[in-house]
Amino acid sequence: MKISARQLWKRFGGVVALQDVNLDVAENEFVTLVGASGCGKSTLLRTIAGLESYGAGSLTCDGKEIAGPGPERAMVFQHYSLYPWLNVVENIRFSRRLAVHTRERTQADVEAASGRADALLRLMGLAHVAKHYPAQLSGGMQQRVAIARALMSRPSVLLMDEPFGALDAQTREVMHDLILHVQRLERSTIVFVTHDVEEALYLGQRVVLMAPRPGRIDTIYRVPLPAQRTQAMKLEPAFVALKREVLERIRATSGMQTDFELLEKLSQAAPT
Ligand SMILES: Nc1ncnc2c1ncn2[C@@H]1O[C@H](COP(=O)(O)OP(=O)(O)OP(=O)(O)O)[C@@H](O)[C@H]1O
Ligand SMILES: [Mg+2]
Repeated sequence: MKISARQLWKRFGGVVALQDVNLDVAENEFVTLVGASGCGKSTLLRTIAGLESYGAGSLTCDGKEIAGPGPERAMVFQHYSLYPWLNVVENIRFSRRLAVHTRERTQADVEAASGRADALLRLMGLAHVAKHYPAQLSGGMQQRVAIARALMSRPSVLLMDEPFGALDAQTREVMHDLILHVQRLERSTIVFVTHDVEEALYLGQRVVLMAPRPGRIDTIYRVPLPAQRTQAMKLEPAFVALKREVLERIRATSGMQTDFELLEKLSQAAPT
């Protein structure tokens, strides 16, 4: 297993953000995490990234306990967090992760890095804006730069927290096919958080549905589609049916229903 969580617990004060989480992600698998706000999706992702500690249980990557960030695990956030004073190719080359190794760097390393940066520029369709600054780019382009930067250190695991959340629907569709292409080329293992169930089903081989209060895994769905996805598959009956099932389950586990019932009672009790 690439990533393995066993009886994983995480608390923030009195809040149980992760309760007894058990999850295996296979090498080269694409797993998506969905669930109502506050169910612990970001917490689970950040814990795998090594940005959060955990209270109990075990969490491993390639069989080694995760004790902090590592170059084999790269994170992409919703907000692109590019350096505004660096142009596109500089942003890709000068990732903080690589800067750590600066002292041991040789000329050959520098050349290999610039070859990789050029390859990533082409892969992400950014070659024509290599010398542009982030402020001159659209949101979709900025996010492509952020993904290229994350890929620079050849991570085997890509952790993405609502990376396309700020993009319009058309740009998102393009990014979906791009990230699937990247995954095939780089043979990465991807864990991807989203609010968008259609996105989760289109990208994921499995969809992990989490539930809040306490944050936990509720259901794991296997997506009944071939590995090679096409946009037309979103219209297939099996896709539409699973989308409805997942949406209903999120609603049922969100606690919002009881909020609606409470509102109903309040309005009935209100003096007329
Ligand atoms: N740094 C923190 N300090 C205290 N509580 C936190 C912290 N981070 C998360 N939490 C709590 O942990 C729970 C899970 O939060 P998390 O951000 O993982 O949810 P999420 O599923 O990503 O939600 P959303 O869909 O809104 O992004 C929430 O109750 C949240 O308030
Ligand atoms: Mg979140």
